[in-house]
Amino acid sequence: MTELVIPVDAWGRIENIYRQRTPRSAAAMARARRVMVRGITRGWGYHRPYPMVAHRGEGPYLIDIDDNRYVDLVNNGLSLIHGHAFPPVVEALQAAAQRGSGWLVASEEQIALAEMLCDRIAAFERVRFTNSGTESGMLAVKVARAATGRPAVLKAIDGFHGSYDDLEVGLYERPEIPGRVYLGRFGEAASFEQQLEAHGESIAAVVLEPLMFSGLVRTAPAGFLLRVQEAARAAGALFVLDDCLMLRLAPGGSAERYGLAPDLTFLGKFVGGGMPMGVLGGRAEIMDVLDPHRERPLYHGGSFNGNLLSCVASLVALEHFTAETIEAMERRTATLRAALLAHANALGLPLRIAGEGSVMGVYVAEEPRGHDAYTFDVGPPTRLLHLAALTHGVLMGPGGEIALSSVVSGQALERAHDGLLQALEDVAAAICVKTDKRSSM
Ligand SMILES: Cc1ncc(COP(=O)(O)O)c(C=O)c1O
Repeated sequence: MTELVIPVDAWGRIENIYRQRTPRSAAAMARARRVMVRGITRGWGYHRPYPMVAHRGEGPYLIDIDDNRYVDLVNNGLSLIHGHAFPPVVEALQAAAQRGSGWLVASEEQIALAEMLCDRIAAFERVRFTNSGTESGMLAVKVARAATGRPAVLKAIDGFHGSYDDLEVGLYERPEIPGRVYLGRFGEAASFEQQLEAHGESIAAVVLEPLMFSGLVRTAPAGFLLRVQEAARAAGALFVLDDCLMLRLAPGGSAERYGLAPDLTFLGKFVGGGMPMGVLGGRAEIMDVLDPHRERPLYHGGSFNGNLLSCVASLVALEHFTAETIEAMERRTATLRAALLAHANALGLPLRIAGEGSVMGVYVAEEPRGHDAYTFDVGPPTRLLHLAALTHGVLMGPGGEIALSSVVSGQALERAHDGLLQALEDVAAAICVKTDKRSSM
């Protein structure tokens, strides 16, 4: 067993380059820390010594307030499928903003978007809009509880579905809540089947992301998703798919790619075309618990649900999100992945890449360890790769996350490729490999 160690001075060298390139960001973040905890307002994206402060985005690039240009491979946490300031979305938003931003009643664009989603996603007969993935996940659980009359949810350990506390069980060392939230092990269908056998009569919904992305990227072994779907059905529970991120795997989302037929699916992130948006969709008979004509409808409010601007941005972004777009993103990702692995191999640097389609988790490690229970920290060598990549003009997630947008091509793709290879060289030069003699005996 070997351990990858980064001597303090080697880390310091790369951190110094980062600091030298980002003095304005350093000053702005010092201001930010006086008014926001640690200077931030969301969990994902924070890293030491401080994250840079962005000034603008232009297609595949993000530009910080020190005028450094980065190829953006993480796109606001996978919420920009066509990169920054996508011209068709900007034009549509500029025109729509003259008419206002949102109303108590529907817009034609809201109805058109609902139609488009029901056309594209096979499992959608009815939709409800929210403002984020977290909200749509929360609504999915409420609807499932109301539709089945059951109280509990079954989800995967480490499965991230946003910041609703019932769906945070199994993260941050939060244990099961008997009668309310149960846990299975992602990739092990039997562990879900056992939970359904033991608690099936109380389980309203089995909630799964088809490929776990946050924390540590993990793909499911063949048959896992279908087996869990089947077991959920057999127990009378709803099978709920979190497609906030993995809608990107096919025009009709991950259910199309994996041959699934979820009862409910929730969306967020890039479905809003860069604007805040969440969606819950599913079978009419289930979604009908929200029908105000029912005797006891489930009330669901939200001042900005389906607002004009989010719907306009979403319509345009989804029109450009085609099978050809997906195929191109996936081809470019495969090329990048192969180049990273080949270069790491030539450098003698252990590198593991997980993922599918246009997403990757890139880990400098012999075996990617589970993320830290509280912070999604995948370990110092991967964090150093992220920092080194920044110094070479590439923005990946601090936990090794990469997800290409449709506009990372041509020169931007070359810059990403060259920058990541240089970052690998920096990390290889920084790292010492320590062999644990006891375990190698
Ligand atoms: C799989 C998954 N579901 C849900 C969410 C929550 O989405 P939001 O940040 O829009 O609340 C996230 C956010 O990262 C996510 O990765």
